[in-house]
Amino acid sequence: VTENHVRDLLAQMTLEEKVGQMTQIDFSVISVENGQDADNPIDQAKLDDALFNHHVGSILNTPTTPNNKAQPIEKWRKMTQLIRDTAAKTRLKIPVIYGIDAIHGATYTQGATLFPQAISMAATFNTELSEKAGEITARAVKASGLDWDFSPVMDIGRQPLWPRFWETYGEDVHLAGAMGSAYIRGHQGDDFAAADKAPTCLKHYVGYSYPLNGKDRTPAWIGERALREYFLPPFQAGVLAGAPTVMINSAEVDGMPGHANYHYLTEILRGEMGFSGFTVSDWEDIIRLYTRDKLAASPREAVKIAVMAGVDMSMVPFDYSFYDLLLDLAKTGEVPLSRIDEAVGRILRVKLQSGLFERREPSIPVAGNFATADAQAVNRQAAEEAIVLAKNANGILPLSKQTRILVTGPTANLLSVMNGGWTITWQGDAEQWYPQDKLTLLKALQQKTTGKVTYVGGQRYDEEINIEQAVAQAREHDVVILALGENTYTETVGNIDSLTLPPVQLQLARAVFAAGKPVILVTFGGRPRIITEIAEQAQAVLLGFLPGMEGGAAMADILFGDVNPSGKLPLSYPRAANDVTPYDHKPMEAFEANQYRPLYPFGHGLSYTQFETGGLTLNKNSIALGDSVEVSVKVKNTGKRAGKEAVLVYLHDLVGSVTRPVKQLKAFKKVELQPGERQTLSFTLRPEDMSFIGVDKRRIVEPGEFEVMVGAETVRFNVLAN
Ligand code: IFM
Repeated sequence: VTENHVRDLLAQMTLEEKVGQMTQIDFSVISVENGQDADNPIDQAKLDDALFNHHVGSILNTPTTPNNKAQPIEKWRKMTQLIRDTAAKTRLKIPVIYGIDAIHGATYTQGATLFPQAISMAATFNTELSEKAGEITARAVKASGLDWDFSPVMDIGRQPLWPRFWETYGEDVHLAGAMGSAYIRGHQGDDFAAADKAPTCLKHYVGYSYPLNGKDRTPAWIGERALREYFLPPFQAGVLAGAPTVMINSAEVDGMPGHANYHYLTEILRGEMGFSGFTVSDWEDIIRLYTRDKLAASPREAVKIAVMAGVDMSMVPFDYSFYDLLLDLAKTGEVPLSRIDEAVGRILRVKLQSGLFERREPSIPVAGNFATADAQAVNRQAAEEAIVLAKNANGILPLSKQTRILVTGPTANLLSVMNGGWTITWQGDAEQWYPQDKLTLLKALQQKTTGKVTYVGGQRYDEEINIEQAVAQAREHDVVILALGENTYTETVGNIDSLTLPPVQLQLARAVFAAGKPVILVTFGGRPRIITEIAEQAQAVLLGFLPGMEGGAAMADILFGDVNPSGKLPLSYPRAANDVTPYDHKPMEAFEANQYRPLYPFGHGLSYTQFETGGLTLNKNSIALGDSVEVSVKVKNTGKRAGKEAVLVYLHDLVGSVTRPVKQLKAFKKVELQPGERQTLSFTLRPEDMSFIGVDKRRIVEPGEFEVMVGAETVRFNVLAN
C-alpha cells in the first residue's frame, strides 16, 4: 500500500514539489519577527510561501532559535496545527514532517519529563530504562503535535574533550548499540504510525565524535577498519532496530566531509547496512562543502555533490538557496531525476509510515502527558541508577541524616548543571527558566536532612568561591560535600583545550581538605574532567554526569542511603588530561602492561552492598565456526542490603590476523538482589560477537582460542576450523 502511494505521488508531483520535499527550513523562516513570545508566532504569509511556493517538506526547531525558552504544549499544538492545516490545502496535501531535538525528553516543551542525558543513561546499564524514556519522549513529542525526534546519538564517546561527548552512550560499541536500540524500541514501538509513537533519527553518521583535536565539527582521522569495527556497529544496531532516518556527520573523516561521502552514505549505509529510510543533512552542512571544506567551487556544486553522495534532505535551514540550486541542477540534468525521485520516495515513505497522511491533529490529549506519576517514577529511577559511586573509603557513605554538612562548590545549587545542553534552550544554561519545583543537590539535602546544612556556593564553574568562608564553615561541620564540575554547553560553544578543572575549583578543594574534615566529592558535568588529586584525598566520590531533572533528589537519596547506588562507568575515567585510553585498547608493550591506568575503569561502580560473581561456565569448550556459545554465571548479594548489579560479559580473541583488543563487552544484564539472594544469569555469544574486521576490511571470525571474562573469572573456548 505504501509503495503504491509513494509511486502515485511521485507520478503526480512536479519537479518543484519534489525538490521542496527535500528542503528543510528552520522555524524562523515562517515566523513573525521576534515572535518568540507571541501566542502563535507563525506568519501565515511566510508559511504560505514555504508550503505553496517552495513546497517545503520539513520544518525544524523551536520558535525561538536557538536561545529561547521552552514553549507551553498548547502553543506547540496551535502552531503545528496551523502547519498541518496549511499543508492540507496544498495541491497534493503532502504533510510536513516537523523535527525536533528531544534528546533527553521533550526538552523544548514546558513541563516535560527530562531524563538523564545519554552518558548518564548508559551508566544505568539498564536498557529497560532507555526503552521507557523513549516511550515517554515519543508520547510527549506527539502530544505537542511534532513528528520526528533527532535522537538517539549513536556516535561513541572516545574523545572526552569533544563538547558533545555527553550526548553519546559512552565509549563502548556494544553498550551504545544496546542503549540506542532500546530507545528506538520504546520510541517507535512495532509501528511508529501509532498515535503515541514517532520516528527516530540516528546521528551523526559517522565518525563525528572522534575529532583529532577534540573540537566540535573538526576532522577525524579514522581508518576504514576502525570505522567498521568501532563507529559503524551502533548505527547498524539502530538500523536493525528500525530507525527510519539518519543525520549526517558535520565534519570530515579521512579527508572526506560526511555530506560528500558517497562511500559512507550510499555504498555502506544502504548497500551494506540495509538502511532504507532517508538521510538528513545537519545544520547548514551542504553549503559548508563550499564555504569551509572547499570541496566545491560554488554553492551550486556543493548541492550537487551532497545530493549525489546520498543526502536526501537538506537542513538548509534559513533560506531557499538549496531549493533554487537543486531545481536548477535537476532542470539541466546535472542531478538526474532518478536521484531526485529516489530521495523524495524515501521521504514520502517515512511520512506515510509515520501516519502523517492520516492524522490531521494529535490524538493524544494535552493533559496528563508531562510529568505523570509514571514518567516521574521512571525518571527518578533512571537518575538513581545513573549515578556512579566511585569511591567510599571506610564506608563513610551513606551519611546519617543528622550529619552537619557544609555544601560548597559551583554545581551544588543549579538544575542546569545536571541537565546539560538541549534543555529548555540550546545551551541548556537558562537556569531562570528551569522548573522551580525541581530540586538541586543543595535543596534536596536541605529537604531530607534532620541536621544542619550550610552552603557556600557559586554559580559558574570558573568563578572564585569565598574560600575563607568555606574553610571556616568546614570546621563547624561534620563533613564537606564538595560539588565540582562544569556548567552546561553543547556543540562548538563547549569547546575546551584541556580536561583539567579550572584552577578555582582546585583551590577550593585544597583549602577545604586543609580544614581536616572528611570530604565527599560530587561531580556534575558532561565530560570526565580531571579530578585525580581531589578524588585521592576525598573519602568518597560520586560521579553524577548529567542525571537530569531528578538528579539532585537522586544524589541526596544516595548520600543518605535511601537509595543504594548501582551506576557503572560507561567510560574509562582518565587519570590525567592526556590519558584517554579506552578499556578495549590493543595489546601494549609487555614491560608496560599496565598502560591502561584510568582513575576509574570502564564498568566501575560501587554499591552499599557487596556482590560476588562466580561459577562462570560455558556449554561447550569448543565450537564449530559459525556456532554460538552459552555462558552461565552466578551473581550473589553477599552484603546486608538489597542492591542492583550489572553483570558484564567480556570476550577476548587471543590471536588474530589484525591486533585484537584485550577485551570487549559483548553482553550485560542488570539484576536486583535481596541480601543473600543468588541468581544464575545466561548469555549467548553469537558468531558476530566473535567477529572482527580483517585485513581486507571484511567482518570475519577466525578459528582459535577465545577467553570469556566475567568479574574476576575467565574461561576459554576454541573455535574450530571447518
Ligand atoms: O539535531 C541537531 C544536531 O545534533 C546538531 N545540529 C543541529 C541539529 C538540529 O537542531
